[in-house]
Amino acid sequence: MQLKYGINMSDLFKNIVSHSKEYGFVFPSSEIYDGLSAVYDYGPLGTLLKNNIREYWWKSMVQLHDNIHGLDAAIFMAPKTWKASGHVDAFMDPLIDNKDSKKRYRADVLIEDYLEKIEKKIDKEVSKAAKRFGDDFVEEKFKAEHPRVSRYVQTIGEIKSEMARCLNENDLKGLGTLINELDIADPVSGSRNWTEVRQFNLMFSTQHGSLAGGDGKLYLRPETAQGIFVNFLNVANTTRSRIPFGIAQTGKAFRNEIIARQFIFRMREFEQMEMQYFVRPGEEMKYYEYWKDFRMKWHRAMGIPESKLRFHLHDNLAHYANAAVDIEFDFPFGFKELEGIHSRTDFDLKKHQEFSGKKLQYFDAELNKNYTPYVVETSIGLDRMFLALLSHAYQEDEVPDADGKASTRLVLKLPPALAPVKCAVLPLVKNKEELTEKARSIFNSLRFSFDCQYDEKDAIGRRYRRQDAIGTPYCITVDFESLEDDSVTLRERDSLEQQRLHISEVEGVIREKTSLNTLLRSLQ
Ligand code: GAP
Repeated sequence: MQLKYGINMSDLFKNIVSHSKEYGFVFPSSEIYDGLSAVYDYGPLGTLLKNNIREYWWKSMVQLHDNIHGLDAAIFMAPKTWKASGHVDAFMDPLIDNKDSKKRYRADVLIEDYLEKIEKKIDKEVSKAAKRFGDDFVEEKFKAEHPRVSRYVQTIGEIKSEMARCLNENDLKGLGTLINELDIADPVSGSRNWTEVRQFNLMFSTQHGSLAGGDGKLYLRPETAQGIFVNFLNVANTTRSRIPFGIAQTGKAFRNEIIARQFIFRMREFEQMEMQYFVRPGEEMKYYEYWKDFRMKWHRAMGIPESKLRFHLHDNLAHYANAAVDIEFDFPFGFKELEGIHSRTDFDLKKHQEFSGKKLQYFDAELNKNYTPYVVETSIGLDRMFLALLSHAYQEDEVPDADGKASTRLVLKLPPALAPVKCAVLPLVKNKEELTEKARSIFNSLRFSFDCQYDEKDAIGRRYRRQDAIGTPYCITVDFESLEDDSVTLRERDSLEQQRLHISEVEGVIREKTSLNTLLRSLQ
Protein backbone atom coordinates (compact mmCIF):
# COMPACT_ATOMS: atom_id res chain seq x y z
CA MET A 1 0.00 0.00 0.00
CA GLN A 2 1.46 3.34 -1.02
CA LEU A 3 1.12 6.55 0.96
CA LYS A 4 1.80 10.15 0.12
CA TYR A 5 5.45 10.87 -0.74
CA GLY A 6 6.03 7.26 -1.64
CA ILE A 7 6.21 5.78 1.88
CA ASN A 8 4.69 2.32 1.94
CA MET A 9 2.99 0.84 4.99
CA SER A 10 5.89 -1.28 6.18
CA ASP A 11 8.29 1.65 5.83
CA LEU A 12 5.79 3.80 7.68
CA PHE A 13 5.73 1.32 10.53
CA LYS A 14 9.53 1.16 10.66
CA ASN A 15 9.66 4.96 10.64
CA ILE A 16 7.20 5.16 13.54
CA VAL A 17 9.26 2.70 15.58
CA SER A 18 12.51 4.57 14.99
CA HIS A 19 10.87 7.96 15.51
CA SER A 20 9.53 6.72 18.86
CA LYS A 21 13.03 5.83 19.96
CA GLU A 22 14.79 8.89 18.52
CA TYR A 23 12.48 11.35 20.26
CA GLY A 24 12.11 9.54 23.56
CA PHE A 25 8.63 8.06 23.24
CA VAL A 26 9.40 4.33 23.50
CA PHE A 27 12.64 2.41 24.15
CA PRO A 28 13.27 -1.34 24.06
CA SER A 29 13.38 -2.50 27.68
CA SER A 30 16.85 -3.01 29.23
CA GLU A 31 18.38 -2.10 25.92
CA ILE A 32 21.98 -2.11 27.15
CA TYR A 33 21.52 -5.88 27.61
CA ASP A 34 20.13 -6.16 24.07
CA GLY A 35 16.54 -5.71 25.22
CA LEU A 36 13.87 -8.17 26.30
CA SER A 37 11.52 -9.41 23.64
CA ALA A 38 8.12 -7.68 23.60
CA VAL A 39 8.83 -5.54 26.66
CA TYR A 40 9.22 -1.78 26.27
CA ASP A 41 9.95 1.30 28.36
CA TYR A 42 8.30 4.66 27.83
CA GLY A 43 10.65 7.63 27.58
CA PRO A 44 10.03 11.21 28.73
CA LEU A 45 7.59 12.14 25.94
CA GLY A 46 6.03 8.68 25.79
CA THR A 47 5.27 8.86 29.51
CA LEU A 48 3.49 12.19 29.07
CA LEU A 49 1.49 10.95 26.08
CA LYS A 50 0.54 7.76 27.87
CA ASN A 51 -0.52 9.70 30.98
CA ASN A 52 -2.67 11.98 28.82
CA ILE A 53 -4.44 9.08 27.07
CA ARG A 54 -5.05 7.42 30.45
CA GLU A 55 -6.45 10.64 31.88
CA TYR A 56 -8.74 11.10 28.88
CA TRP A 57 -10.06 7.56 29.35
CA TRP A 58 -10.42 7.93 33.13
CA LYS A 59 -12.25 11.25 33.02
CA SER A 60 -14.55 10.14 30.22
CA MET A 61 -15.50 6.99 32.11
CA VAL A 62 -15.37 7.93 35.80
CA GLN A 63 -15.76 11.70 35.95
CA LEU A 64 -18.44 11.93 33.26
CA HIS A 65 -20.57 9.04 34.54
CA ASP A 66 -21.93 9.53 38.07
CA ASN A 67 -22.48 5.80 38.45
CA ILE A 68 -18.94 4.67 37.56
CA HIS A 69 -16.39 4.38 40.35
CA GLY A 70 -12.65 3.96 40.23
CA LEU A 71 -10.56 1.12 41.64
CA ASP A 72 -6.88 0.29 41.88
CA ALA A 73 -6.64 -3.41 42.67
CA ALA A 74 -3.34 -5.20 43.28
CA ILE A 75 -1.58 -7.10 40.50
CA PHE A 76 -1.22 -10.18 42.69
CA MET A 77 -4.45 -11.87 43.62
CA ALA A 78 -5.34 -15.00 45.59
CA PRO A 79 -4.42 -17.89 43.24
CA LYS A 80 -7.97 -19.26 43.41
CA THR A 81 -9.09 -16.16 41.50
CA TRP A 82 -7.53 -17.56 38.35
CA LYS A 83 -8.96 -21.01 38.86
CA ALA A 84 -12.42 -19.46 39.22
CA SER A 85 -12.06 -17.17 36.22
CA GLY A 86 -11.01 -20.09 34.03
CA HIS A 87 -7.56 -18.70 33.29
CA VAL A 88 -5.66 -21.63 34.85
CA ASP A 89 -7.47 -24.18 32.71
CA ALA A 90 -8.41 -22.26 29.62
CA PHE A 91 -6.25 -19.17 29.05
CA MET A 92 -4.29 -20.99 26.40
CA ASP A 93 -3.02 -20.44 22.91
CA PRO A 94 -2.45 -23.31 20.48
CA LEU A 95 1.29 -23.49 19.89
CA ILE A 96 3.29 -25.19 17.16
CA ASP A 97 7.09 -25.46 16.70
CA ASN A 98 9.01 -25.78 13.50
CA LYS A 99 11.50 -28.60 13.97
CA ASP A 100 14.05 -27.13 11.54
CA SER A 101 14.03 -23.44 12.44
CA LYS A 102 13.20 -24.09 16.13
CA LYS A 103 10.80 -21.16 15.88
CA ARG A 104 7.55 -21.22 17.80
CA TYR A 105 4.23 -19.98 16.37
CA ARG A 106 0.59 -19.68 17.31
CA ALA A 107 -1.18 -22.23 15.13
CA ASP A 108 -4.22 -19.99 14.59
CA VAL A 109 -2.00 -17.03 13.62
CA LEU A 110 -0.21 -19.11 10.97
CA ILE A 111 -3.62 -19.91 9.48
CA GLU A 112 -4.76 -16.27 9.75
CA ASP A 113 -1.62 -15.12 7.94
CA TYR A 114 -2.39 -17.65 5.21
CA LEU A 115 -5.93 -16.25 4.91
CA GLU A 116 -4.54 -12.72 4.72
CA LYS A 117 -2.52 -13.71 1.67
CA ILE A 118 -5.67 -14.91 -0.11
CA GLU A 119 -7.47 -11.70 0.93
CA LYS A 120 -4.67 -9.69 -0.65
CA LYS A 121 -5.14 -11.61 -3.91
CA ILE A 122 -8.86 -10.74 -3.80
CA ASP A 123 -8.08 -7.07 -3.15
CA LYS A 124 -5.74 -7.02 -6.14
CA GLU A 125 -8.38 -8.50 -8.46
CA VAL A 126 -11.02 -6.11 -7.08
CA SER A 127 -8.94 -3.01 -7.63
CA LYS A 128 -8.01 -4.13 -11.17
CA ALA A 129 -11.68 -4.72 -12.02
CA ALA A 130 -12.79 -1.48 -10.37
CA LYS A 131 -10.43 0.41 -12.65
CA ARG A 132 -11.64 -1.50 -15.70
CA PHE A 133 -15.39 -1.08 -15.07
CA GLY A 134 -15.34 2.40 -13.52
CA ASP A 135 -18.71 3.59 -12.18
CA ASP A 136 -20.46 0.36 -13.24
CA PHE A 137 -18.39 -1.71 -10.83
CA VAL A 138 -20.26 -3.44 -7.99
CA GLU A 139 -17.77 -5.12 -5.67
CA GLU A 140 -20.11 -7.67 -4.08
CA LYS A 141 -21.43 -8.81 -7.48
CA PHE A 142 -17.88 -9.11 -8.81
CA LYS A 143 -16.79 -11.18 -5.82
CA ALA A 144 -19.77 -13.49 -6.19
CA GLU A 145 -19.49 -13.98 -9.97
CA HIS A 146 -15.84 -13.84 -10.95
CA PRO A 147 -14.75 -17.53 -11.09
CA ARG A 148 -11.31 -17.16 -9.47
CA VAL A 149 -12.36 -14.57 -6.90
CA SER A 150 -15.49 -16.43 -5.87
CA ARG A 151 -13.33 -19.53 -5.37
CA TYR A 152 -11.00 -17.53 -3.10
CA VAL A 153 -13.97 -16.22 -1.11
CA GLN A 154 -15.33 -19.73 -0.69
CA THR A 155 -11.94 -21.09 0.37
CA ILE A 156 -11.60 -18.37 3.01
CA GLY A 157 -15.04 -19.21 4.38
CA GLU A 158 -14.24 -22.91 4.58
CA ILE A 159 -10.87 -22.41 6.28
CA LYS A 160 -12.35 -19.93 8.77
CA SER A 161 -15.15 -22.23 9.75
CA GLU A 162 -12.82 -25.25 10.18
CA MET A 163 -10.43 -23.15 12.28
CA ALA A 164 -13.35 -21.89 14.42
CA ARG A 165 -14.53 -25.45 14.93
CA CYS A 166 -11.06 -26.62 15.99
CA LEU A 167 -10.64 -23.70 18.40
CA ASN A 168 -14.12 -24.11 19.90
CA GLU A 169 -13.79 -27.86 20.31
CA ASN A 170 -10.16 -27.64 21.40
CA ASP A 171 -9.32 -29.95 18.50
CA LEU A 172 -5.54 -29.45 18.40
CA LYS A 173 -5.04 -32.36 16.02
CA GLY A 174 -7.49 -30.71 13.63
CA LEU A 175 -5.51 -27.44 13.71
CA GLY A 176 -2.31 -29.34 12.91
CA THR A 177 -4.03 -31.14 10.03
CA LEU A 178 -5.29 -27.82 8.66
CA ILE A 179 -1.77 -26.35 8.72
CA ASN A 180 -0.38 -29.37 6.91
CA GLU A 181 -3.24 -29.58 4.39
CA LEU A 182 -2.84 -25.91 3.52
CA ASP A 183 0.87 -26.60 3.08
CA ILE A 184 1.76 -23.66 5.33
CA ALA A 185 5.49 -23.08 5.59
CA ASP A 186 7.54 -21.48 8.36
CA PRO A 187 7.62 -17.78 7.38
CA VAL A 188 11.29 -17.58 8.39
CA SER A 189 12.84 -20.78 7.03
CA GLY A 190 10.24 -22.01 4.53
CA SER A 191 10.32 -25.44 6.22
CA ARG A 192 7.12 -27.50 6.59
CA ASN A 193 8.53 -29.77 9.28
CA TRP A 194 6.04 -29.07 12.10
CA THR A 195 5.53 -30.55 15.57
CA GLU A 196 2.05 -31.36 16.83
CA VAL A 197 -0.08 -28.47 18.11
CA ARG A 198 -0.01 -28.11 21.93
CA GLN A 199 -1.80 -25.82 24.38
CA PHE A 200 0.28 -23.14 26.10
CA ASN A 201 -0.93 -21.22 29.15
CA LEU A 202 -0.33 -17.50 28.81
CA MET A 203 -0.10 -16.63 32.50
CA PHE A 204 3.25 -15.73 34.10
CA SER A 205 3.76 -17.13 37.56
CA THR A 206 6.02 -16.34 40.48
CA GLN A 207 6.47 -17.49 44.07
CA HIS A 208 4.98 -15.96 47.22
CA GLY A 209 7.86 -15.49 49.71
CA SER A 210 6.21 -16.97 52.78
CA LEU A 211 4.73 -20.12 51.24
CA ALA A 212 6.77 -22.98 49.80
CA GLY A 213 5.97 -25.06 46.70
CA GLY A 214 2.66 -25.15 44.87
CA ASP A 215 0.81 -23.33 47.66
CA GLY A 216 2.92 -20.23 47.10
CA LYS A 217 2.43 -20.08 43.36
CA LEU A 218 1.12 -16.68 42.34
CA TYR A 219 0.11 -15.42 38.92
CA LEU A 220 0.73 -11.99 37.47
CA ARG A 221 -2.74 -10.89 36.43
CA PRO A 222 -3.42 -11.42 32.71
CA GLU A 223 -6.29 -8.91 32.81
CA THR A 224 -7.32 -6.21 35.28
CA ALA A 225 -10.99 -7.24 35.13
CA GLN A 226 -10.79 -9.91 37.86
CA GLY A 227 -9.69 -7.30 40.41
CA ILE A 228 -12.98 -5.57 39.66
CA PHE A 229 -15.13 -8.70 39.97
CA VAL A 230 -13.71 -9.69 43.35
CA ASN A 231 -14.30 -6.14 44.63
CA PHE A 232 -17.82 -5.92 43.27
CA LEU A 233 -19.51 -5.99 46.70
CA ASN A 234 -16.89 -3.77 48.36
CA VAL A 235 -17.51 -1.04 45.84
CA ALA A 236 -21.28 -1.54 45.65
CA ASN A 237 -21.62 -1.31 49.44
CA THR A 238 -19.21 1.55 50.10
CA THR A 239 -20.62 3.71 47.31
CA ARG A 240 -24.21 2.60 48.01
CA SER A 241 -24.57 2.05 44.28
CA ARG A 242 -27.77 0.99 42.61
CA ILE A 243 -27.73 -1.07 39.48
CA PRO A 244 -26.72 -0.17 36.80
CA PHE A 245 -23.29 0.96 37.96
CA GLY A 246 -19.74 0.46 36.82
CA ILE A 247 -16.23 -0.01 38.19
CA ALA A 248 -13.25 1.25 36.22
CA GLN A 249 -9.54 0.70 36.60
CA THR A 250 -6.31 1.01 34.71
CA GLY A 251 -3.21 -1.03 35.37
CA LYS A 252 -0.59 -3.48 34.24
CA ALA A 253 -1.42 -6.90 32.88
CA PHE A 254 0.97 -9.67 31.84
CA ARG A 255 0.68 -12.33 29.16
CA ASN A 256 3.32 -14.76 28.01
CA GLU A 257 2.42 -14.22 24.36
CA ILE A 258 3.90 -16.87 22.06
CA ILE A 259 4.44 -14.45 19.29
CA ALA A 260 4.80 -10.93 20.48
CA ARG A 261 5.50 -8.78 17.49
CA GLN A 262 4.61 -5.46 15.93
CA PHE A 263 6.28 -3.25 18.51
CA ILE A 264 3.92 -2.25 21.34
CA PHE A 265 0.90 -3.86 19.66
CA ARG A 266 1.38 -7.21 21.38
CA MET A 267 3.50 -7.06 24.51
CA ARG A 268 4.22 -9.39 27.40
CA GLU A 269 3.77 -6.58 29.94
CA PHE A 270 1.15 -4.00 29.03
CA GLU A 271 -1.47 -1.74 30.51
CA GLN A 272 -5.23 -2.13 30.29
CA MET A 273 -8.06 0.34 30.87
CA GLU A 274 -11.13 -1.68 31.78
CA MET A 275 -14.63 -1.00 32.99
CA GLN A 276 -17.23 -3.52 34.14
CA TYR A 277 -20.81 -2.33 34.06
CA PHE A 278 -23.16 -4.29 36.34
CA VAL A 279 -26.73 -4.51 35.07
CA ARG A 280 -30.00 -6.36 35.61
CA PRO A 281 -30.09 -9.73 33.84
CA GLY A 282 -32.03 -9.27 30.62
CA GLU A 283 -31.03 -5.61 30.24
CA GLU A 284 -27.46 -6.29 29.13
CA MET A 285 -28.04 -5.75 25.39
CA LYS A 286 -29.33 -2.21 25.96
CA TYR A 287 -26.11 -1.29 27.79
CA TYR A 288 -23.95 -3.25 25.37
CA GLU A 289 -25.29 -0.98 22.60
CA TYR A 290 -24.77 2.13 24.76
CA TRP A 291 -21.12 1.23 25.42
CA LYS A 292 -20.48 0.33 21.80
CA ASP A 293 -21.66 3.80 20.77
CA PHE A 294 -19.92 5.64 23.57
CA ARG A 295 -16.59 3.94 23.05
CA MET A 296 -16.65 4.54 19.30
CA LYS A 297 -17.45 8.21 19.98
CA TRP A 298 -14.47 8.34 22.36
CA HIS A 299 -12.14 7.20 19.58
CA ARG A 300 -13.66 9.51 16.98
CA ALA A 301 -13.38 12.52 19.32
CA MET A 302 -9.59 12.22 19.08
CA GLY A 303 -9.90 13.06 15.40
CA ILE A 304 -9.48 9.50 14.15
CA PRO A 305 -11.51 9.33 10.93
CA GLU A 306 -14.36 6.90 10.43
CA SER A 307 -12.40 5.14 7.68
CA LYS A 308 -9.72 4.05 10.19
CA LEU A 309 -12.11 2.53 12.75
CA ARG A 310 -14.58 -0.27 12.43
CA PHE A 311 -16.56 -2.73 14.51
CA HIS A 312 -15.74 -6.38 14.13
CA LEU A 313 -18.24 -8.85 15.53
CA HIS A 314 -16.63 -11.91 17.12
CA ASP A 315 -17.08 -15.00 14.94
CA ASN A 316 -16.83 -17.29 17.97
CA LEU A 317 -18.15 -16.17 21.32
CA ALA A 318 -16.24 -17.15 24.46
CA HIS A 319 -18.26 -19.59 26.56
CA TYR A 320 -19.15 -16.84 29.08
CA ALA A 321 -20.22 -14.16 26.59
CA ASN A 322 -23.56 -13.61 24.88
CA ALA A 323 -22.31 -10.78 22.65
CA ALA A 324 -18.87 -9.42 21.82
CA VAL A 325 -17.46 -6.91 19.40
CA ASP A 326 -14.04 -5.40 18.79
CA ILE A 327 -13.28 -1.86 17.78
CA GLU A 328 -10.57 -2.28 15.18
CA PHE A 329 -8.10 0.37 14.05
CA ASP A 330 -6.36 0.51 10.71
CA PHE A 331 -2.75 0.09 11.94
CA PRO A 332 0.09 0.31 9.38
CA PHE A 333 -0.12 -3.52 9.28
CA GLY A 334 -3.88 -3.59 8.68
CA PHE A 335 -7.12 -3.50 10.68
CA LYS A 336 -6.53 -5.07 14.12
CA GLU A 337 -8.28 -5.16 17.49
CA LEU A 338 -7.88 -2.04 19.58
CA GLU A 339 -10.65 -2.50 22.13
CA GLY A 340 -13.15 -5.18 23.11
CA ILE A 341 -16.74 -4.69 24.26
CA HIS A 342 -18.10 -7.84 25.78
CA SER A 343 -21.38 -8.84 27.33
CA ARG A 344 -20.02 -11.33 29.88
CA THR A 345 -23.31 -12.47 31.46
CA ASP A 346 -23.07 -13.44 35.17
CA PHE A 347 -20.27 -15.91 34.49
CA ASP A 348 -17.46 -14.27 36.48
CA LEU A 349 -19.45 -13.29 39.57
CA LYS A 350 -21.06 -16.73 39.74
CA LYS A 351 -17.69 -18.45 39.42
CA HIS A 352 -16.16 -16.31 42.18
CA GLN A 353 -19.19 -17.03 44.34
CA GLU A 354 -18.72 -20.75 43.76
CA PHE A 355 -14.96 -20.78 44.41
CA SER A 356 -14.93 -18.36 47.37
CA GLY A 357 -18.10 -19.60 49.03
CA LYS A 358 -19.07 -15.91 49.52
CA LYS A 359 -22.37 -14.62 48.26
CA LEU A 360 -21.81 -12.11 45.45
CA GLN A 361 -25.36 -10.97 44.88
CA TYR A 362 -27.15 -7.69 44.64
CA PHE A 363 -30.44 -6.86 46.32
CA ASP A 364 -32.59 -4.94 43.87
CA ALA A 365 -34.99 -2.93 46.03
CA GLU A 366 -37.19 -2.01 43.06
CA LEU A 367 -37.73 -5.64 42.11
CA ASN A 368 -37.51 -6.78 45.73
CA LYS A 369 -35.17 -9.65 44.89
CA ASN A 370 -31.57 -10.82 44.98
CA TYR A 371 -29.72 -11.72 41.83
CA THR A 372 -26.26 -12.00 40.32
CA PRO A 373 -25.83 -9.00 38.02
CA TYR A 374 -24.87 -9.35 34.37
CA VAL A 375 -21.78 -7.52 33.19
CA VAL A 376 -20.96 -5.48 30.12
CA GLU A 377 -17.24 -4.84 29.83
CA THR A 378 -15.19 -2.34 27.86
CA SER A 379 -11.52 -3.23 27.66
CA ILE A 380 -8.79 -1.35 25.85
CA GLY A 381 -5.01 -1.66 25.85
CA LEU A 382 -3.35 1.65 26.70
CA ASP A 383 -0.20 0.76 24.76
CA ARG A 384 -2.25 -0.27 21.75
CA MET A 385 -4.14 3.02 21.90
CA PHE A 386 -0.80 4.81 22.10
CA LEU A 387 0.34 3.01 18.93
CA ALA A 388 -2.94 3.74 17.14
CA LEU A 389 -2.67 7.43 17.96
CA LEU A 390 0.97 7.60 16.95
CA SER A 391 0.29 5.78 13.66
CA HIS A 392 -2.52 8.18 12.87
CA ALA A 393 -0.60 11.28 13.93
CA TYR A 394 2.70 10.49 12.19
CA GLN A 395 2.73 12.36 8.90
CA GLU A 396 5.15 13.77 6.41
CA ASP A 397 3.77 16.83 4.64
CA GLU A 398 5.12 19.57 2.47
CA VAL A 399 5.53 23.05 3.92
CA PRO A 400 7.37 26.17 2.76
CA ASP A 401 10.82 26.59 4.30
CA ALA A 402 12.38 29.91 5.40
CA ASP A 403 13.03 30.86 1.76
CA GLY A 404 9.51 29.94 0.70
CA LYS A 405 10.63 26.71 -1.03
CA ALA A 406 8.64 23.52 -0.48
CA SER A 407 10.26 21.14 1.99
CA THR A 408 9.14 17.93 3.66
CA ARG A 409 8.49 18.08 7.36
CA LEU A 410 7.83 15.29 9.77
CA VAL A 411 4.96 16.10 12.09
CA LEU A 412 2.95 14.33 14.76
CA LYS A 413 -0.59 15.63 14.37
CA LEU A 414 -1.67 14.54 17.84
CA PRO A 415 -4.88 15.92 19.33
CA PRO A 416 -3.70 19.07 21.19
CA ALA A 417 -5.28 17.90 24.45
CA LEU A 418 -3.20 14.71 24.40
CA ALA A 419 0.07 16.08 23.00
CA PRO A 420 2.95 15.53 25.47
CA VAL A 421 4.11 19.14 25.22
CA LYS A 422 1.42 21.76 24.84
CA CYS A 423 3.58 24.69 23.80
CA ALA A 424 7.18 25.71 23.24
CA VAL A 425 8.58 29.14 23.97
CA LEU A 426 11.27 30.20 21.51
CA PRO A 427 13.29 33.43 21.49
CA LEU A 428 13.85 34.39 17.84
CA VAL A 429 17.61 34.41 18.35
CA LYS A 430 19.79 33.09 21.12
CA ASN A 431 22.41 35.78 21.55
CA LYS A 432 20.14 38.66 22.49
CA GLU A 433 19.75 38.65 26.23
CA GLU A 434 16.60 40.81 26.31
CA LEU A 435 14.88 38.26 24.05
CA THR A 436 15.99 35.17 25.96
CA GLU A 437 15.10 36.80 29.28
CA LYS A 438 11.60 37.68 28.12
CA ALA A 439 11.09 34.23 26.58
CA ARG A 440 12.28 32.55 29.78
CA SER A 441 9.94 34.61 31.89
CA ILE A 442 6.96 33.63 29.66
CA PHE A 443 8.06 29.98 29.89
CA ASN A 444 8.44 30.16 33.67
CA SER A 445 4.92 31.48 33.97
CA LEU A 446 3.33 28.97 31.53
CA ARG A 447 4.98 25.91 33.09
CA PHE A 448 2.66 26.24 36.10
CA SER A 449 -0.25 25.44 33.81
CA PHE A 450 1.12 23.25 31.01
CA ASP A 451 3.86 20.87 29.98
CA CYS A 452 5.91 23.26 27.91
CA GLN A 453 9.46 23.56 26.64
CA TYR A 454 11.94 26.39 26.28
CA ASP A 455 14.31 26.11 23.31
CA GLU A 456 16.89 28.60 22.10
CA LYS A 457 19.29 26.32 20.21
CA ASP A 458 19.60 26.50 16.38
CA ALA A 459 17.74 28.57 13.82
CA ILE A 460 14.05 29.18 14.46
CA GLY A 461 13.00 27.00 11.48
CA ARG A 462 14.85 24.00 12.90
CA ARG A 463 13.29 24.56 16.31
CA TYR A 464 9.81 24.61 14.75
CA ARG A 465 10.61 21.30 13.04
CA ARG A 466 11.76 19.77 16.32
CA GLN A 467 8.48 20.74 17.96
CA ASP A 468 6.48 19.46 14.96
CA ALA A 469 8.25 16.11 15.28
CA ILE A 470 7.08 15.67 18.88
CA GLY A 471 3.57 16.95 18.19
CA THR A 472 3.69 20.28 20.08
CA PRO A 473 0.54 22.07 18.90
CA TYR A 474 1.70 25.65 19.60
CA CYS A 475 4.98 27.55 19.44
CA ILE A 476 5.32 31.00 20.96
CA THR A 477 8.04 33.11 19.37
CA VAL A 478 9.48 36.10 21.17
CA ASP A 479 11.00 38.64 18.74
CA PHE A 480 12.17 42.24 18.72
CA GLU A 481 8.63 43.56 18.46
CA SER A 482 7.87 41.71 21.70
CA LEU A 483 10.37 43.96 23.48
CA GLU A 484 8.43 47.02 22.37
CA ASP A 485 4.78 46.02 22.72
CA ASP A 486 4.70 42.78 24.76
CA SER A 487 3.27 40.83 21.83
CA VAL A 488 4.39 37.37 20.66
CA THR A 489 3.72 35.13 17.66
CA LEU A 490 1.62 32.03 18.19
CA ARG A 491 2.30 29.42 15.51
CA GLU A 492 -0.14 26.59 15.02
CA ARG A 493 1.40 23.19 14.20
CA ASP A 494 -1.07 21.87 11.58
CA SER A 495 -2.14 24.98 9.65
CA LEU A 496 1.17 26.80 10.24
CA GLU A 497 -0.91 29.93 10.79
CA GLN A 498 0.77 32.63 12.81
CA GLN A 499 -1.14 35.00 15.01
CA ARG A 500 0.05 37.99 16.99
CA LEU A 501 -1.06 38.02 20.63
CA HIS A 502 -0.42 40.09 23.71
CA ILE A 503 1.57 38.12 26.31
CA SER A 504 -1.31 38.42 28.77
CA GLU A 505 -3.56 36.48 26.34
CA VAL A 506 -1.21 33.56 25.71
CA GLU A 507 -2.10 31.38 28.67
CA GLY A 508 -5.85 31.69 28.07
CA VAL A 509 -5.54 30.87 24.37
CA ILE A 510 -3.30 27.82 24.94
CA ARG A 511 -5.58 26.62 27.72
CA GLU A 512 -8.66 26.85 25.53
CA LYS A 513 -7.02 25.11 22.58
CA THR A 514 -5.28 22.30 24.45
CA SER A 515 -7.67 21.62 27.29
CA LEU A 516 -8.94 18.13 27.93
CA ASN A 517 -12.32 19.72 28.73
CA THR A 518 -12.91 20.47 25.05
CA LEU A 519 -12.23 16.86 24.14
CA LEU A 520 -14.47 15.60 26.95
CA ARG A 521 -17.28 17.99 26.02
CA SER A 522 -17.31 16.62 22.48
CA LEU A 523 -18.42 13.27 23.92
CA GLN A 524 -21.78 14.66 25.00
N1 GAP B 1 -10.91 -8.36 30.24
C1 GAP B 1 -11.04 -8.62 28.85
C2 GAP B 1 -9.77 -8.71 28.14
O1 GAP B 1 -8.70 -8.69 28.73
P1 GAP B 1 -8.76 -8.94 25.76
O2 GAP B 1 -9.44 -8.83 24.42
O3 GAP B 1 -7.95 -10.15 26.03
O4 GAP B 1 -9.94 -8.79 26.81
C3 GAP B 1 -8.44 -6.37 25.96
O5 GAP B 1 -7.87 -7.65 25.99
C4 GAP B 1 -7.53 -5.38 25.29
O6 GAP B 1 -6.23 -5.42 25.90
C5 GAP B 1 -7.27 -5.67 23.81
O7 GAP B 1 -8.28 -5.14 22.99
C6 GAP B 1 -5.94 -4.97 23.59
O8 GAP B 1 -6.14 -3.59 23.34
C7 GAP B 1 -5.24 -5.14 24.93
N2 GAP B 1 -4.28 -6.26 24.88
C8 GAP B 1 -4.53 -7.57 25.04
N3 GAP B 1 -3.39 -8.30 24.95
C9 GAP B 1 -2.40 -7.41 24.75
C10 GAP B 1 -0.98 -7.52 24.58
N4 GAP B 1 -0.37 -8.70 24.64
N5 GAP B 1 -0.26 -6.39 24.37
C11 GAP B 1 -0.86 -5.17 24.34
N6 GAP B 1 -2.20 -5.01 24.49
C12 GAP B 1 -2.96 -6.11 24.70
